[in-house]
Amino acid sequence: MAKRMRLLLLGGTGDAAALAARLAGDLRIEAITSLAGRTQAPAAIAGRLRTGGFGGTDGLAAYLAHEKIDLLIDATHPYAARMPHAAAEACTRMGMPRLRLLRLPWAQVDGDRWIAAADLAAAATMLPGLARRVFLTTGQRDLDAFASLTDTWFLIRLIEPPAAPLPLAHCEIRLARGPFRVKNEINLLREHRIEALVSKNSGGEATYGKIEAARALGLPVVMVERPAAPTGETVGTIDACMAWLETRMS
Ligand SMILES: NC(=O)c1ccc[n+]([C@@H]2O[C@H](COP(=O)([O-])OP(=O)(O)OC[C@H]3O[C@@H](n4cnc5c(N)ncnc54)[C@H](OP(=O)(O)O)[C@@H]3O)[C@@H](O)[C@H]2O)c1
Repeated sequence: MAKRMRLLLLGGTGDAAALAARLAGDLRIEAITSLAGRTQAPAAIAGRLRTGGFGGTDGLAAYLAHEKIDLLIDATHPYAARMPHAAAEACTRMGMPRLRLLRLPWAQVDGDRWIAAADLAAAATMLPGLARRVFLTTGQRDLDAFASLTDTWFLIRLIEPPAAPLPLAHCEIRLARGPFRVKNEINLLREHRIEALVSKNSGGEATYGKIEAARALGLPVVMVERPAAPTGETVGTIDACMAWLETRMS
């Protein structure tokens, strides 16, 4: 039997977990999923798991060499700004095949009232005058950008209770893990008298319910644009990742 390929799967997304599940049991490949370690109790991952940063591009390159990795799939979140560039640099340096799994962004449809923001800071400057009660779904690490908005009330949805108080003057925390259904999202927006949303354009189904809910209620969505991604082979689905792997395993 041919040598088992070793794959490093950069994770932290539902897609990465789903890909790891697809690969579990495939005797031709051993996948190691890597998580940054931000979530205390991440969803279960099939197969081998490692946790924590590598220490930049050099640290990642050293890990790839030490673990005798053959291939890398970067399935980090579309808003992971640093890891994809480190992965691209390390793989280029080592001549290692690399694929990015990047979900297609959502596209505006009739009835959507999106306002594009180049980044979180730009999103924050748009809120005064637009809304006093805001559903902010960008994630806990991104709240500092909104700290100066002391006249705005925020509904914040998090997976886990925050380790430290949030940097917002007026907010309520709601703990929940997706997927979120549109009917429940409409109820949530109504219950809290939300006037606008701030969202990343994550793509996929799991968190699209809030976008549909905003459309149904005629609410504006400040949509933060994605950070620049490295160039290189990119696919949008797990099936396409499997096809890429197949060509390298046969
Ligand atoms: N940003 C978001 O909105 C978002 C949303 C959902 C999930 N996530 C997930 O959360 C993780 C961190 O996101 P981030 O925005 O902080 O990303 P980032 O800015 O690209 O990464 C910051 C640092 O965290 C470490 N890191 C990131 N992803 C890693 C991984 N899969 N395995 C090991 N180390 C990793 C790296 O540390 P070293 O330099 O030390 O190697 C990296 O330089 C990512 O895995 C991402 O997929 C992010």
